[in-house]
Amino acid sequence: MNNISLNYEYVKGFVDDNDLSEIQKRVHKCHQDLLNKACPGKDYLGWIDLPKNTNQEEIKKIQDAGNWIRENSDVFISIGIGGSYLGARAAIKALTHIFNNELPDAKPRIYYAGNSIYPDYMSDLLDVIKNKKIALNVISKSGTTLETALVFRILRNFMLKVYGKKETYKRIFATTDAKKGALLELSRQTGIKTFVIPEDIGGRFSVLTPVGLLPMAVSGIDIVEMLKGAADMATQTASPNIYENVSYLYAAIRNILYEKGKVIEIFANFTHSMSYVAEWWKQLFGESEGKDGKGIFPTVVNYTTDLHSLGQLVQQGMRNLFETFLIVDEPGIDVMIPGDDKNLDGLNYVSGHTFGYVNKKAKEATERAHYEGGVPNMTITVPKLTAYHTGQLFYFFEKAVAISGLLLGVNPFDQPGVEAYKKQMFHLLGREKY
Ligand code: PA5
Repeated sequence: MNNISLNYEYVKGFVDDNDLSEIQKRVHKCHQDLLNKACPGKDYLGWIDLPKNTNQEEIKKIQDAGNWIRENSDVFISIGIGGSYLGARAAIKALTHIFNNELPDAKPRIYYAGNSIYPDYMSDLLDVIKNKKIALNVISKSGTTLETALVFRILRNFMLKVYGKKETYKRIFATTDAKKGALLELSRQTGIKTFVIPEDIGGRFSVLTPVGLLPMAVSGIDIVEMLKGAADMATQTASPNIYENVSYLYAAIRNILYEKGKVIEIFANFTHSMSYVAEWWKQLFGESEGKDGKGIFPTVVNYTTDLHSLGQLVQQGMRNLFETFLIVDEPGIDVMIPGDDKNLDGLNYVSGHTFGYVNKKAKEATERAHYEGGVPNMTITVPKLTAYHTGQLFYFFEKAVAISGLLLGVNPFDQPGVEAYKKQMFHLLGREKY
């Protein structure tokens, strides 16, 4: 198995063949609108051909910067929020050692900042990076996002005190719009090296632009393989037929379930390394679909951990839920459960098996129990934890959310609602113009 697959046997009784053939006509129309750029948000479709179009020069520039940072820093900080950090964090978490920052030879340690305004986080981060060789990537398409800009100011000042101007600006890399924004202006004035977020790609669709690729390259991920996986998924999702296109099938099933009152989608992750892919998914679907009084509420759980916190509610609470499980077929690493002569803990029934085996059985048990409890569910299987398959997965979900949002009748590529809190906040903070 080399491609992402979707198993939907546990939606039977909730979604039938008739529903699927009915929605197929609508999927076809949405597909045509998307390809012909005749859909809402048509100016933000640059992500569709991006994996095939990324040029060698751009890739080389990203790799060179990534290598420079690896060689010249102990600590790398990615500063950004929402679409400007979740994709990179998802890939790095999926593809590098879970305890990278604790490894004695970690090169570099990777931290994320600018995704909150938590004073405790900022203060403790400043402690951790003391006396370290630091490199920063500040990422903001608008160049004006408050969380990102504030943290950047604090870290920039910290570095200026340690390194002085010349060395500080050599150690900072900015990813932003090609033409506008405060970050671009600051970069121009200081000589900071910049990478461009294409104009026609929105934040949450930007994981395969320098937004995601530079931090990935710093972590040692093979970005060429990542783009290849995404490009192959673009080919695999070219058909409008839901039975030939797993991405569209997923989009179709979740819309059918929504129309039948299943308004909450629980993204149930069974692999620790995938926990930030789940967070990235949550933003992608939440921000793309939640508008005009519509939208499936996307929420994330990590099983089996959350079976001991939310399992009760899922099993027997309000029946307005469906689940999408994410599993990795061959995680590549595993731990054997040893036998024990005395068997005092009574666990010899699983000795000789692996953690992965028990985890798979737990997943099978969960899908059956929840289905019997009235929660339809489907499973997305990723063959392996590789850059190639992670690239496939990113593209799979981007294509799915585009079609899903269009099926829902919203513009999947804008986020006007995010401005409301900003206006209130700027007013309270006394900013004059907004
Ligand atoms: O998907 C989006 O557009 C948002 O999540 C943005 O990525 C996020 O708000 C950060 O914006 P910016 O990159 O302009 O700082």
